[in-house]
Amino acid sequence: MSTTRATTKERSAVRTLLRLWPYVRPVRVRLFGAALVAVLASCVGLVIPLVLKWMVDGPVADRDPAGVWLGALYLLLLGVAEALLFGLRRWLVARPLSHVEAEMRAGLFRHLQRLPVAFHDRWSSGQLLSRGTADLSLLRMFLAFPLTFLLVNSVTILVGVIIMLLQDWTLGLVILGPAIPVMVTCVVFEKRYHHVARLAQDQVGDLTTVVEESVLGIRIIKGFGRHRSQARTFRELSRTLRGTELRKAGLLATIWGVIVTLPEVAIGAALVLGTVQVADGELSAGTLVAFLSTALALRWPVDSIGFLLAMSQEAATATERYFEVMDETPELEAPFRGAGNCATSHNAPAADNEGIHFSAVSFRYPDAPESSLPVLDRIDLHIRPGESMALVGATGSGKTTLTALIPRLHELTSGRITLDGEDITAMPRETLRELVAVAFEEPTLFSASVGENVLMGTAESAGERELERALAVAQADFAHSLPQGTDTQVGEQGLSLSGGQRQRLALARAVVGQPRFLVLDDPLSALDVHTEAAVEAALRHVLADTTALIVAHRPSTVLLADRVALLSDGRITAVGTHHELLRTNAEYAHLMSGTGEAEDER
Ligand SMILES: Nc1ncnc2c1ncn2[C@@H]1O[C@H](COP(=O)(O)OP(=O)(O)O)[C@@H](O)[C@H]1O
Ligand SMILES: [Mg+2]
Repeated sequence: MSTTRATTKERSAVRTLLRLWPYVRPVRVRLFGAALVAVLASCVGLVIPLVLKWMVDGPVADRDPAGVWLGALYLLLLGVAEALLFGLRRWLVARPLSHVEAEMRAGLFRHLQRLPVAFHDRWSSGQLLSRGTADLSLLRMFLAFPLTFLLVNSVTILVGVIIMLLQDWTLGLVILGPAIPVMVTCVVFEKRYHHVARLAQDQVGDLTTVVEESVLGIRIIKGFGRHRSQARTFRELSRTLRGTELRKAGLLATIWGVIVTLPEVAIGAALVLGTVQVADGELSAGTLVAFLSTALALRWPVDSIGFLLAMSQEAATATERYFEVMDETPELEAPFRGAGNCATSHNAPAADNEGIHFSAVSFRYPDAPESSLPVLDRIDLHIRPGESMALVGATGSGKTTLTALIPRLHELTSGRITLDGEDITAMPRETLRELVAVAFEEPTLFSASVGENVLMGTAESAGERELERALAVAQADFAHSLPQGTDTQVGEQGLSLSGGQRQRLALARAVVGQPRFLVLDDPLSALDVHTEAAVEAALRHVLADTTALIVAHRPSTVLLADRVALLSDGRITAVGTHHELLRTNAEYAHLMSGTGEAEDER
């Protein structure tokens, strides 16, 4: 299911991270301000050794207690200043960075909503979820901490090294000895860590998918006694993830070892050498104290570089994963071709052009192999204005696919569909989806009230009256006897409704705006015979003044329609009235006999 492994091509972490700039831009002043404050704080820390030097060579050597107290006061003030500055940094970044995270998350969500259905078919939900949550938190942490401290530590190390070289350049060179091996280790480490970090983040996505599917499919899992195998899948995935995390930890331990040990050895060497120099009188005790306390003050900035690099690497892979989704092309608006289209609709005889017109429509799912047959093959179909057409076909013949083409949930491979003479690709999507209302086989309710669910496709102005009418048509009056009537919360966070109840609400949602075109994909399948009859009776009124395409399985539903089209292996093989087709078409008669494949679908 997890499809989206990055092709691990060479890429630079810096270039990837630079893509965050547009999101960081609005808070740049505060972020740079904070970095500056942190650099300042760190440099204040470096003044402390110099005060120590002054104390050792001055008041301490001269046995002047007042001078020692003064020195202590200076040290205290410097310490307080350092602490205050670091506090100020935190205060500066906290709020703007949570804003950046929220903006990026909102951007991702907005983008996901605009991506075509084909994208969502291809991507597992867990991969999307983990990008919107774990990856974005990683990014916020990166901006708050490693980004600033890589800068702060570099400056601190540079200033510290200069101070040490100025104190005593031979000792300084001893301290600098490990610099090159440490840098080489960092470069090697970065490369390796990138691969493992990416692997771990993808595995978190897979794990999220399993959790999500198990929660959504809990009834099926229990019903088929699959909880053990589901738990096993989960365990295996989490074991793999654990292995990856351990590899990450191992890498981190190695670099940490190198980064901590080498400088420590260098400090030891400098200590021995310095003591000898002081004994020989070539160096003042104060200088050695200052030198060593500067070296010790640099220990943390050097030691932390390992995990700062690790966090930056993880942030780079998180950015990569974020932009993999953001770089997908959303549904594009065709340039509005209104004028050209009007011309065609005037040229042809009006009756022929109105209603829903399929001309030579072929469709193949974008992820299907090139060699496979198209799901729909050169479909020609005309639904006259005001007419209701039933669409009948065996399971898998392409009925759902065909209905999804009208509101442009998928793009045609070739051919065209016109609504009242206007090509659907020439209309803005919004207009198209206002004209066409749909109800699908799988009635999805959102976590909102019954009323909100039904009215979700309509204008703000739609109210009680429209709601009542739609509920009546869909025979969904049960809504009034729910605990809070039509204000009752339903959906995942609300009351659970039966399949038939959900279908009727979905149907109400489709008819509430009195759409010009109505597309119903087997909307009555979960209803009992009596409710179905009642819904059909009410639907008859609605269908009287809309142009409708209804996928149907049962003769009773088919009878609602004026004509029937038979879809067989992706082609329309017959069009006629129910009775005509019953007489003349064996496949149709078989499908309608009630024992055929049609019933198997349930
Ligand atoms: N998202 C998809 N990606 C690839 N193939 C699909 C997708 N949805 C459906 N199909 C395939 O298209 C064919 C028609 O499916 P569908 O339109 O759902 O049939 P029906 O509604 O008539 O049962 C089936 O063979 C199905 O496997
Ligand atoms: Mg279907």
